Amino acid sequence: MIKVDVKGCESFVDEAKYQEYVGKALEAFDVLKNETGAGNDFLGWKKLPRYISDRELHDYEAIRDKWSRKGVDLVIAIGIGGSYLGAKCVMEALSHSFAKQLKRKDGIEVVFAGNNLSEEYYAELMDLAAERNVACIVISKSGTTTEPAVAFRIVKQHIEARYGKAEAADRIVAITDAAKGALKTLATQENYETFVVPDNVGGRFSVLTPVGLLPICVAGYDVRALVEGAQDACTGLGIKSEKNPAVIYAAMRNYLNTELGKSTEILVNYNPKLTYVAEWWKQLYGESEGKDGKGIFPASVNNTADLHSMGQFIQEGSRLMFETVLHVENAQRSVVIESDNQNLDQLNFLAGKHVEYCNHMAELGTQLAHIDGGVPQMAVNMEKVDAFNLGSLLYFFEFACGISAYVLGVNPFNQPGVEAYKKNMFALLEKPGYEKETAAIRKRIQ
Ligand code: PA5
Repeated sequence: MIKVDVKGCESFVDEAKYQEYVGKALEAFDVLKNETGAGNDFLGWKKLPRYISDRELHDYEAIRDKWSRKGVDLVIAIGIGGSYLGAKCVMEALSHSFAKQLKRKDGIEVVFAGNNLSEEYYAELMDLAAERNVACIVISKSGTTTEPAVAFRIVKQHIEARYGKAEAADRIVAITDAAKGALKTLATQENYETFVVPDNVGGRFSVLTPVGLLPICVAGYDVRALVEGAQDACTGLGIKSEKNPAVIYAAMRNYLNTELGKSTEILVNYNPKLTYVAEWWKQLYGESEGKDGKGIFPASVNNTADLHSMGQFIQEGSRLMFETVLHVENAQRSVVIESDNQNLDQLNFLAGKHVEYCNHMAELGTQLAHIDGGVPQMAVNMEKVDAFNLGSLLYFFEFACGISAYVLGVNPFNQPGVEAYKKNMFALLEKPGYEKETAAIRKRIQ
């Protein structure tokens, strides 16, 4: 079970005032649980771990097995934001750091597209596709997002040209809305196998729907353990208590922001495998809380690497931030530092110690230094980086996000601000129907 440790905040906190925030978080817990808050038609993610059936997981495995039989060795997963980051973060966390160089395969190699509009990226993706046996999972809840639609047009044409239209339909799976959107229309017309993103689950809360689970399964990772971990968290976090880790996390981050002006939260990891967990978390909290002129800016660092880049700023720069450390209790591999006869690097005092012991001391030393530097510290503890614990972690952050955003006083489940860039982009690209906006934006940039 995920635990939250706030000892590193104690010296910054007025206990009585903090307890008010615990009270607010408990009220927000009720709002979330009873589904009485803003955006309550988007709470499908809350009970999702309990309703993922064996049949559903079997369907994902069937696609993985079918593509394996065809010799598929590259799946292009197309999606952006919540239709990409969940799968990406789980795969990065569970894969061997050097899988490519070792030519190790957990399953079919999955690469991502539709998360940028770089022409070079797509040219290079097609270089790769040309050499491989390709299939595609195209994901868009709305079915109308430009970046994945552009990517899909390119990938679809490649697959159809190589394998023919009928075989292409067997190599393309669409994940989208049950009834509406351009992708749904296309999938029906082209006879693609299709999975549905439930209406009541927003993109950034969709990792435990087909959006996350199908690519993760195809890539060969243990979706069953991931779901079990989420189920475990779902049960544990469903209990109203001031000891509930989601309540503690939501209370403390709101206290630090509102009472101490700590308006930036840095998610810190000490394991490169967790880099994309932070990217997923940034979308989750950034889009859920950053609205109505409010919110805590979500940032991240990868330590110890970033102690040699951002460390200076965090220690002594403007005092805007607090840190939340993703603390992993146990490494799953063992590397011991050996003694050296010459000891020219003067590291013999570490002989016999595990590298992870040094990592933990770096983590502890950094936390204490940052506390001394005026940066409150929280820790989110997970036992190890495996599918079960990741499932728990992702669900924990989702549940805590709902509570936290309600404490902040915003609707966690909309993202009206995302439309602004799209409107300008469509005007600049001269999309039909945007003629007025095109004329206006032209004048602005002359
Ligand atoms: O959280 C959200 O809903 C968004 O960030 C979406 O994930 C993102 O915009 C992608 O949308 P879609 O899946 O509709 O293409």
